[in-house]
Amino acid sequence: MSATENNPFNASWTYDKAPESTDHIQLKEQYELFIDGAFVKPLKGKYFETINPSNNQTIASVAEASSEDVDKAVHAARAAFDSWSTLSGRERGKYIYRIARLIQERAREFAVIESMDGGKPIRESRDIDVPLAANHFFYYAGWADKLAYAFPNKTPKPLGVAGQIIPWNFPLLMAAWKLAPALATGNTVVLKPAETTPLTALKLAEIIQESGLPKGVVNILTGAGATGAAIVQHPEVDKIAFTGSTAVGKYIQKTIAGTPKKLTLELGGKGANIIFEDAAIDQAVEGIVNAIFFNQGHVCCAGSRLFVQESVASTVIQKLKERMEHLIVGDPLDKNTDIGAINSTKQLETIKDYVEKGLKEGGEIYQPVCDLPKKGNWCRPTLFLNVSQSHTIVQEEIFGPVLTVQTFRTIDEVIDKANNTPYGLSAGVWTQHGAKIFHLTQQLNAGVVWANTFNKFDPTAPFGGYKESGFGREGGLQGLRPYLKFN
Ligand code: NAI
Ligand code: MG
Repeated sequence: MSATENNPFNASWTYDKAPESTDHIQLKEQYELFIDGAFVKPLKGKYFETINPSNNQTIASVAEASSEDVDKAVHAARAAFDSWSTLSGRERGKYIYRIARLIQERAREFAVIESMDGGKPIRESRDIDVPLAANHFFYYAGWADKLAYAFPNKTPKPLGVAGQIIPWNFPLLMAAWKLAPALATGNTVVLKPAETTPLTALKLAEIIQESGLPKGVVNILTGAGATGAAIVQHPEVDKIAFTGSTAVGKYIQKTIAGTPKKLTLELGGKGANIIFEDAAIDQAVEGIVNAIFFNQGHVCCAGSRLFVQESVASTVIQKLKERMEHLIVGDPLDKNTDIGAINSTKQLETIKDYVEKGLKEGGEIYQPVCDLPKKGNWCRPTLFLNVSQSHTIVQEEIFGPVLTVQTFRTIDEVIDKANNTPYGLSAGVWTQHGAKIFHLTQQLNAGVVWANTFNKFDPTAPFGGYKESGFGREGGLQGLRPYLKFN
């Protein structure tokens, strides 16, 4: 046997295709708005298309909600509020459990549709997005009848109608993060998914209908920014929960200033992933890959700034490059795919602009040699070496598979560098020393700090940011608080 045949990581070794079947998927040609428990046509009769970013073909046409439709949905939510908020927690919990169970039953269908509509690898939608979405509903179903224990000596009350606006990077999961705590606490909801990925939220609407949830408790409106803005501006919405860009987050904050509306914002990030010389290097390399290439880097808490201690930098970078040569970029529905399609042509342009800026500002680029499919939106996993704190690509959120690499010598230096960003959402620390981990978790301005792992999510753990990454927490007991008042 030759040396290359012996090497399991030989670059010439290819995987056979392993596509997930789409036979069991039932998609309609046209989707309507989900208002007051029914699927209804948009009042202005407008529709837009959602496409599959791996081939840019249209999947379905989807209703575009106008401000009149928003008004209708808010009134339905308002009308449902009195009976929903006074239903016993135990009864509310039953509906939420039912939704969780129905997601599990239709998990495969959800996973395939998520990958078709948004471009993420089926392995991720199947093993992460969909199970986590179900788990969020299970978890908050458990809280519905225990609010008095969550907040002892207080009398928690729901706020009213929550307007929830979610992004395209984790469409079903973000819907679950928003809906589950709102329902458990007795609020009613008008939710808007992102315009490039509306389909799993609409499938969720079907499940909600099937669950028998009283009509009007959840309303799902599809549309773009204007629909979102109409929800934000509606005078009868009591709370806005938003996940998306910092720019839109700031717009929302300005818009509702001076009104009694409550707000939580989960915005962008530029997470630092810090590798110390005493870390388990091979695991750390795997962690770096997971931190930045998971979901094509369309992750607010991505570890997009790598800091490696100087003494191990050349080893880590070499191993990282080798690992990147073996990442499979391509068909999101193939079970071997590591990096799927970039969510939209607009996002691909954004990423390309940043890559160009990185080059113009003197960064040294590394991309593996790999074939990309001819149609669709693709981006090779990308490293930028030879960059410093002042580079645009080190400062701004790219939201794509692009990693900047810097080195450091001392702990204080890396803390300063890691915190030198307008964001404060996530960070990762790789070391064998527990004391170092605790020191860094105290010093890093980040809502989440992962130790010897990255991008791990759990419904019981609160998630959220500092500074321009937003405020408020989702997940855990803390995730109940933004949907309650205490007087
Ligand atoms: P975006 O913030 O425009 O979209 C997120 C959601 O907000 C969508 O549902 C959208 O329809 C809605 N929206 C847009 N304008 C609105 C308005 N004026 N009022 C109310 N809702 C509005 O994000 P976009 O343009 O798709 O992505 C741009 C950048 O934002 C990305 O490159 C990335 O850096 C960042 N981003 C961050 C996310 C996160 O999870 N933190 C998620 C999505 C994008
Ligand atoms: Mg789409």
